[in-house]
Amino acid sequence: MNEATIILAIESSCDETSVSVIKDGTEILSNIVLSQIESHKRFGGVVPEVASRHHVEGITATIDEALNTADVTMKQVDAVAVTQGPGLIGALLVGINAAKALAFAYDKPLIPVHHIAGHIYANHLEKPLQFPVMSLIVSGGHTELIYMKNHLNFEVIGETRDDAVGEAYDKVARTIGLSYPGGPQVDKLAVQGQDSYDFPRVWLDKDSYDFSFSGLKSAVINKLHNVRQKGLEINEADVATSFQNSVVEVLVGKSIAACEAYNVNQLIVAGGVASNKGLRSALSEACESHNITLSIPSPKLCTDNAAMIGAAAHYLYHAGITADMTLNGVNSLDIEAFTVK
Ligand code: KG4
Ligand code: ZN
Repeated sequence: MNEATIILAIESSCDETSVSVIKDGTEILSNIVLSQIESHKRFGGVVPEVASRHHVEGITATIDEALNTADVTMKQVDAVAVTQGPGLIGALLVGINAAKALAFAYDKPLIPVHHIAGHIYANHLEKPLQFPVMSLIVSGGHTELIYMKNHLNFEVIGETRDDAVGEAYDKVARTIGLSYPGGPQVDKLAVQGQDSYDFPRVWLDKDSYDFSFSGLKSAVINKLHNVRQKGLEINEADVATSFQNSVVEVLVGKSIAACEAYNVNQLIVAGGVASNKGLRSALSEACESHNITLSIPSPKLCTDNAAMIGAAAHYLYHAGITADMTLNGVNSLDIEAFTVK
């Protein structure tokens, strides 16, 4: 084994083409992110076919830029890692085919990575995970509580039964009239309003760590439509604050309950919605009063990027997990199947 492990990681599961070079699992030598947000804005959301085309256009230059910025050649790279899923299948396949080509041409091991494992390991880039860990995953496609006894040991203890939290944010934002992606804009607006609408908090069954956001999303959208149909004014900041408070209260309540039931050392938060200011401050307050260590990555590591894929890949590589040239993208992939015993 080299004195240092160098991994080139590729992420292309949604609307960011990203390539990173990671040393020893935590040192980011480069993390290039080519965002497609501007292109998808005009459609109000990610158009899968458009996303795939942008990945094809950008992937080669992004790989070159990541290697150049890191000042590393493919010869020095120990392994090539890539997001296998979950995600948009056409988008995933662009990254997977680029990774296979590199692995084949340079005779390097190919490491398949679960996208959500990547989001979890984004935390590890800044501060070592302190097991046992509870992870709250809040992204555009996922809302989950995942318990980890150790590295690469994933147990999903709760998940959304309908919409993901980011999806609810984006739909509410669109109805308010904000552009895509609406989550960050609802977050900004929420600071300016009052919690004056009594939107539901959906707790589901007692002791369940599952979530449900579709009822809340519909309640907010119906409220906006009803008021507008009557030709009345609505205070959009108040709607944003009331919606955000409802989401945050449930996410925080369930996360704290899960941390106590599983007696963990650390709560980590991952995924795009982890950069939400309301969620971050409510979680830090709750964790402080319950004596739970909280870790949330910097905003730039919360959204999709390849450094997080490289961080997870480091452990997969040392556990001997590799794929051959038949590796395929999987749009809905079970994270528990990535558990290494
Ligand atoms: O993890 P991510 O970059 O992509 C997925 O894997 O889904 O998450 C994107 C999601 C979008 O729904 C976006 O609106 C949401 O994260 N988001 C936010 C904030 N920043 C990003 N939602 C609420 N508040 C934010 N500050
Ligand atoms: Zn993501």
